[in-house]
Amino acid sequence: NWSMDDFIDMQVDKIREEVGDKKVILGLSGGVDSSVTAVLLHKAIGDQLTCIFVDHGLLRKNEADQVMNALSRDLGVNIIKVDASDRFLGKLKGVTDPEKKRKIIGKEFVEVFNEEAKKMDDAEFLAQGTLYTDVIESGTDTAQTIKSHHNVGGLPKKLGFKLIEPLRSLFKDETRELGEKLGIPHELVWRQPFPGPGLGIRVIGEITPEKLEIVRESDAILREEIAKAGLDEKIWQYFTVLPGIRSVGVMGDGRTYDYAVAIRAVTSIDGMTADFAKIPWDVLQKISVRIVNEVDHVNRILYDVTSKPPSTIEYE
Ligand code: XMP
Repeated sequence: NWSMDDFIDMQVDKIREEVGDKKVILGLSGGVDSSVTAVLLHKAIGDQLTCIFVDHGLLRKNEADQVMNALSRDLGVNIIKVDASDRFLGKLKGVTDPEKKRKIIGKEFVEVFNEEAKKMDDAEFLAQGTLYTDVIESGTDTAQTIKSHHNVGGLPKKLGFKLIEPLRSLFKDETRELGEKLGIPHELVWRQPFPGPGLGIRVIGEITPEKLEIVRESDAILREEIAKAGLDEKIWQYFTVLPGIRSVGVMGDGRTYDYAVAIRAVTSIDGMTADFAKIPWDVLQKISVRIVNEVDHVNRILYDVTSKPPSTIEYE
């Protein structure tokens, strides 16, 4: 596609001219927008770019490795990965209120990012993966009044950097196309939306390492089976949730009293409204059997059949 090649050349020139010999930092989440921004900047200015990847311990199974392999190992992007799991889990201990959880994760994220950024006091620019839709929707996003959103694009202006936002004129589809042109793996570029607070809002109520493990493992099985069934690019979002309910079951000769895991899968155009996805029964059955067999302390699987509205996509 010639126009995307033109876009890359133009942006590379523009970034080089603007940045000169200065340094740029970027908050990497592993999501499409920040990843594409990182690789585009890397193409333009190489090691003058440093990405900060805050692992809050609420990422999906293998997610951090996947991002590090694709961007750092394979494409040579300079990334500092900060393992802040203990710090986040510590702050979240005992917290059950959804908004409090969101606020803590968002605040902690900015603090960890800031501490790392301060170590690079020679950086003058902050790059962000702001898209055209973020530009036109800012201030009018009703979702933000229902849930306080957190993502790496939301770093406060007061950090005092000059902003670079090379994707400001692009839609999501164009961003994905650009990402593939830049050599980012297909799975990463086409992956489903994942909220900034991560698995933290998929463990309902208090987050514990054990509960996180159940969500992380069950989610990995769900994703694997959805991909095997060829549904991964047909369903907008699909994930598991731990509602925290325990119920009685039977395993062998014994009684169990273990957790129920909910499957949430929706079709949508933009996340503002959504229908529950009609995953074929046989696929659901396979997912159910695998989760119960492979994930400790789960003895029941529930399928969420509500649309948005009245539900939201995420549970918190
Ligand atoms: P809800 O749950 O409000 O979600 O129906 C709508 C879409 O937004 C995603 N979501 C988030 N994305 N930071 C994000 O970047 C967040 O804090 C956040 N919370 C929800 C959600 O996954 C769905 O795609």
